[in-house]
Amino acid sequence: MLTRRQLLAAGGAAAGLSLSPLGLAAEGLIRRTIPASGEQLVAMGIGTNRYGVSTAEAKAPLKATLAEFVRLGGQLIDTAPSYGKGLSEAVLGELTEELGIRDQLFFATKVDGRMDGPRQMATSMEKLKTDRAELIQVHNLRALDTLLPALREAQTDGLIKYVGVTTSRHEQFEQLESVMRSEPLDFVQLNYSLDDRQAVERLLPMAQDRGIAVLVNLPFGRGRLFEKTADQPLPAWAAEFDCQTWGQFFLKYLLGHPAVTCPIPGTRKTKHVVDNMGAAMGAVPDEAMRKRQEALIDAL
Ligand SMILES: NC(=O)c1ccc[n+]([C@@H]2O[C@H](COP(=O)([O-])OP(=O)(O)OC[C@H]3O[C@@H](n4cnc5c(N)ncnc54)[C@H](OP(=O)(O)O)[C@@H]3O)[C@@H](O)[C@H]2O)c1
Repeated sequence: MLTRRQLLAAGGAAAGLSLSPLGLAAEGLIRRTIPASGEQLVAMGIGTNRYGVSTAEAKAPLKATLAEFVRLGGQLIDTAPSYGKGLSEAVLGELTEELGIRDQLFFATKVDGRMDGPRQMATSMEKLKTDRAELIQVHNLRALDTLLPALREAQTDGLIKYVGVTTSRHEQFEQLESVMRSEPLDFVQLNYSLDDRQAVERLLPMAQDRGIAVLVNLPFGRGRLFEKTADQPLPAWAAEFDCQTWGQFFLKYLLGHPAVTCPIPGTRKTKHVVDNMGAAMGAVPDEAMRKRQEALIDAL
């Protein structure tokens, strides 16, 4: 049997192409519990806000990326009706159908008030080529008063499994906190990264208190963390929590927080999926180690 190190080395060397057996990879992955149901979810997703392409040539690397994500045990794909100039959902539906991977997936999409809730959900499901989405989230807390009841109704009718809300802006944190306090939510999605830590102050403790699963968007600050560390060597002590790359350094930092269910790094590259799924294996940093990570980034 391959060791984890050999598995990652094989995946990295071949840019994720054929060596790591799915069963073993999926077995070794970190999973987190969705408090609302007790269901276990693999603790690394994928963000698809740049999946809005139209040519076969442009779709090919996205198809390879999704295939690799699932081959390595990934489940949660985050998308939205507005992503990729409105094309991402349809591209995902087409590619996941071609790959025959729907049964392994946990689809998370959104409603945003541009159409009434039921119509927009039906449109999303049609584009995603599915009859049922695992999670629908109110995008950026828009039109909550009408959209949340529509999502709850869809949940009662069995069209969706979980209901959530999202933001990616500090300006909405106060409103998000108030919604988390007053509404029964299964999921929240928020921005949190090694150099954007405001969510730890109130939102993550509240998610733990209220039993709300947390998806983390912008886990790399839209790539900003890679720019900050571009000319820096990865510290040797990163190996203490099974971390081999900067990408894993940033993602494992998030998984070290007990409130975090699943970061959703956005990528269109197979080699980055291999890297990111590697962060959901092995150890995660403890609180002392996380402080060390913060000090390193703050000093750059
Ligand atoms: N309000 C909301 O609901 C909201 C707002 C923003 C985002 N989101 C969701 O969150 C997801 C993530 O956000 P994001 O994609 O904007 O930002 P991000 O995940 O912080 O960063 C994405 C960037 O990192 C690069 N990258 C990914 N993995 C890498 C790796 N292992 N090594 C080096 N570079 C890597 C990507 O490029 P490559 O493609 O080259 O890998 C891309 O440039 C979105 O896709 C979306 O699903 C939701």
